[in-house]
Amino acid sequence: MAENMKSLKRHSYILNAILLFISLIYEAGGLRTTELRITPRVVQRGRNVTMECVYQTHDYSIYSVKWYRGVQEFYRYSPLETPTTRVMPVNGIKVDRLRSNETHVVLLRVTPPLSGNYSCEVILNAHSYPHQTATARLDVVGIGGLRAIELRISPPVVQRGSDATLACLYQLTDAPLYSVKWYRGRHEFYRYSPTETPATKIFPFAGINVDLARSNQSQVVLTRVSFGLSGNFSCEVTADAPSFATSIVSNNMEVVVLPPTSPSIHTSQHYYTPGDVMKANCTSGPSRPPSVLSFFINDMLVSPGLYQVHPAPEGLFRSELYVQIQLWPAHYERGAPILRCEVKVGELYKEDSAVALYSANSDPKIERVTSPGSAAKLQACQPLLLLYIILWANNT
Ligand SMILES: *[C@@H]1O[C@H](CO)[C@@H](O)[C@H](O)[C@H]1NC(C)=O
Ligand SMILES: *[C@@H]1O[C@H](CO)[C@@H](O)[C@H](O)[C@H]1NC(C)=O
Ligand SMILES: *[C@@H]1O[C@H](CO)[C@@H](O)[C@H](O)[C@H]1NC(C)=O
Ligand SMILES: *[C@@H]1O[C@H](CO)[C@@H](O)[C@H](O)[C@H]1NC(C)=O
Ligand SMILES: *[C@@H]1O[C@H](CO)[C@@H](O)[C@H](O)[C@H]1NC(C)=O
Ligand SMILES: *[C@@H]1O[C@H](CO)[C@@H](O)[C@H](O)[C@H]1NC(C)=O
Repeated sequence: MAENMKSLKRHSYILNAILLFISLIYEAGGLRTTELRITPRVVQRGRNVTMECVYQTHDYSIYSVKWYRGVQEFYRYSPLETPTTRVMPVNGIKVDRLRSNETHVVLLRVTPPLSGNYSCEVILNAHSYPHQTATARLDVVGIGGLRAIELRISPPVVQRGSDATLACLYQLTDAPLYSVKWYRGRHEFYRYSPTETPATKIFPFAGINVDLARSNQSQVVLTRVSFGLSGNFSCEVTADAPSFATSIVSNNMEVVVLPPTSPSIHTSQHYYTPGDVMKANCTSGPSRPPSVLSFFINDMLVSPGLYQVHPAPEGLFRSELYVQIQLWPAHYERGAPILRCEVKVGELYKEDSAVALYSANSDPKIERVTSPGSAAKLQACQPLLLLYIILWANNT
């Protein structure tokens, strides 16, 4: 009898769970949101903007409609409260209360800093308050309807000898484009002016090779970049008459060479036993900027040693780190200590090499425990591989 009651109870739990699940699906289905329409989407400063949250509800009424700029709520409509609308202070946003309601929000006299993502979130008055959000972008441009936004360099860090694409992102509303001028420092090297023939013009600059076929009014492609090009690039956009408004943006290009191989480790002896003083040095392949090296024993950082940067051919640098450390029995607790050298170039590059410090009687020789060039990649793949092996083992 008791058994039967238990099983009945369990069944009713499961039934309840299924019912709740179905009702959740049903409630969510009661809401067909949503789209956020912003008119005009690109607007000149000082104008008014109307935002419309397009949604349809079936079966349930609205609990609230919340409006956000980014993650900050600035307006809320909740029909169950008095007053039904509420304006939250958010820097620079002026809501026209008289013309805002359950579906619309009107922003007055917008300014360029108000450019960005806006969202409306519709929440239904139902058991689990199902909600949906729609997002759209507003861009507010300056005088003359012109705003240069960004000079984007790709890749962000350029390997010497490869190509770089510089894109000038700008918005122009009220006037046609008059020109886009490109500068390295203060020297103009490329100009695009649609009213002239030809529309593109190149001004020679040592080390700059413009690929005309791939350059146009919004981007310029540089080929075979050299170290000399590292530095400040700018694009200056000018709107046509009557305003001839200009807007300029800059960005820094960094040209680098990364070490071609993983670092090499040299130790003073072939074998070590606890109590020995180990002397080791680590040398990185040539790079620019110079690489930074660190030694680890069993993943513990070895206190700073002697770090030197030597000039190498073609304007590159070779870094060397020398350390001296006494080996203790504690280093041998989990077998031969592992000596690892890590090399970094800024945030761009990280690689390492490692050796095991065997004692003469345990194993014949010091040897590499990771193969050159594979250390960093190996680290990333191993957990995945392990997972596959575990899954595979469980399945067989
Ligand atoms: C913006 O709206 C306000 C208030 O309704 C109005 O007085 C003003 O003329 C409008 N501005 C523009 C540029 O439409
Ligand atoms: C809400 O306001 C907008 C414009 O501000 C208007 O077009 C719309 O008809 C209004 N909707 C309701 C339901 O009052
Ligand atoms: C704005 O929205 C777009 C598309 O949803 C997204 O890619 C972008 O990261 C968002 N920008 C910000 C600043 O949240
Ligand atoms: C400029 O060229 C790039 C690459 O060829 C292309 O993706 C882009 O659409 C072009 N821009 C214009 C405005 O023609
Ligand atoms: C880059 O050049 C532009 C235009 O000459 C200048 O306004 C800007 O300050 C420079 N930026 C840096 C970081 O030097
Ligand atoms: C580092 O090791 C190399 C090769 O054994 C050696 O030529 C060099 O002198 C060593 N440098 C230092 C500072 O010990």
